[in-house]
Amino acid sequence: MKILLLTSSILGDNSQSNHLANHYKAQLKAQGIQVEWIERDLAENSLPHLTAEEMGSWMAETPTEAQLQLRQRSDDLIDEVKAADRIVLGVPMYNFGIPTQLKAWFDRVLRAGSTFRYTAEGPEALLETKPVLILAARGGLYAGTPADSQTPHLKSLLGMIGQTDVEFIYAEGVSMGDEAKQKAIANAEAAIDAHVKAMV
Ligand SMILES: Cc1cc2nc3c(=O)[nH]c(=O)nc-3n(C[C@H](O)[C@H](O)[C@H](O)COP(=O)(O)O)c2cc1C
Repeated sequence: MKILLLTSSILGDNSQSNHLANHYKAQLKAQGIQVEWIERDLAENSLPHLTAEEMGSWMAETPTEAQLQLRQRSDDLIDEVKAADRIVLGVPMYNFGIPTQLKAWFDRVLRAGSTFRYTAEGPEALLETKPVLILAARGGLYAGTPADSQTPHLKSLLGMIGQTDVEFIYAEGVSMGDEAKQKAIANAEAAIDAHVKAMV
């Protein structure tokens, strides 16, 4: 199977969401699940902010060579989503939201006419639904409360392109002392183990 794995932490080796992504990869290997990985570290290789020029390149009817080149950036990211059987996102919480690097990825993948279209009844998704797993790391505690602005935002972004089969695994309270952090990571790892076992 092909899995698209996107990580987006700015904390590199100290990142909790990267740790969970690595744990997920190790568990798949341990379960003997053969995977062709499509991996992007969106923090290490960050995309620029979306501009009118880049958006214009998507819509140009007779694109110039420069527009074709610019359009390729979004085309490649969308092709990776289409090619994947599953999608896994490592998502840190930064300032109550998703990292700007991950938002820059969504800004290229939510593309009218390609991955969704506008209709009289509202937007319609154009991509096949596939399982999405979110590995979310947070300093505080939010899951299941109105203060969790990140989860509904991710659901809205993914839903726009047909990704309604979304599971969240949270490591929360990682900035609330060592004990809380260890417990949060252990719980998230156990949830990942159960998720992977259910894939076999
Ligand atoms: C720039 C920055 C902003 C943060 N903002 C929040 C926040 O709004 N709420 C929160 O609970 N934790 C916040 N934290 C803590 C992170 O959510 C926590 O460190 C988490 O482990 C980040 O994921 P990562 O380790 O994969 O980068 C922030 C951390 C950083 C570096």
